[in-house]
Amino acid sequence: MAKLYGVSVGTGDPELITVKGLKCLQEADIVAFPEGINGKSGIAQRIISPWLQSHQMLLPLKFPYIQDDQELTEAWNVAAQTVLPYLQKGEDVTFACEGDISFYSTFTYLAQMVQKLDPTIGVETIPGVCSPMAVASELGIPLTARSQRLIILPTLYHLEELEKAFQVAEVVVLMKFSSLYSQIWELLQTKNLLDHSYIIERATMPEQVVYKDLKEQADLKLSYFSVMIIKVSTSWN
Ligand SMILES: C[S@@+](CC[C@H](N)C(=O)[O-])C[C@H]1O[C@@H](n2cnc3c(N)ncnc32)[C@H](O)[C@@H]1O
Repeated sequence: MAKLYGVSVGTGDPELITVKGLKCLQEADIVAFPEGINGKSGIAQRIISPWLQSHQMLLPLKFPYIQDDQELTEAWNVAAQTVLPYLQKGEDVTFACEGDISFYSTFTYLAQMVQKLDPTIGVETIPGVCSPMAVASELGIPLTARSQRLIILPTLYHLEELEKAFQVAEVVVLMKFSSLYSQIWELLQTKNLLDHSYIIERATMPEQVVYKDLKEQADLKLSYFSVMIIKVSTSWN
């Protein structure tokens, strides 16, 4: 029975893939990934391009950046219907995912939809390097140590969520936060945390930008591909 494989390909540097992930990718006949926008290659496709082989069939799938649940479900259904005929013919499909496959990944929705349409299809995932880990590494800092508590906020809807996180964690990671950046900056200033906050845009990609000193950076226009690490306390115990 054919399988849908989900391979984590890391955050940008093609060498951040695991040996197991690379083997799976190179043995694949059909390689799927989220399609890019405006006719450009998607991020995952760009990351795996050094590893792709000419005989492989490439299957870009549309995962739009929208919030509407109904439209999203329809897009996942279309993506699942695209890979399903190959799987049902007995051909494996390998989906390449930017960062880690189980960490806020489009693969989750694709795999669920495929199994809903055909429960006989098996799914296997290969873990990898997710963006908070890559960002800590590029900053040259440990993400957490000893008994420090870590909170990851994947999207901020209200600033109060961040204030609450400061009360219960020593380290806070923000993802998908760029549209709220100026309000976050104000809060960090009020809490005297600007000296302990760091941002990386497009971590491990050739266009990577590191912001270690945020005091003069109230008006940054950040890319969607940005992660902020806030060291709320430097105490380890
Ligand atoms: C849909 S989530 C995908 C997460 C991804 N699966 C991972 O393992 O990191 C997209 C968010 O991840 C973060 N992200 C992913 N790759 C990044 C990178 N190379 N540099 C900075 N942030 C990144 C950003 O916060 C972005 O808004």
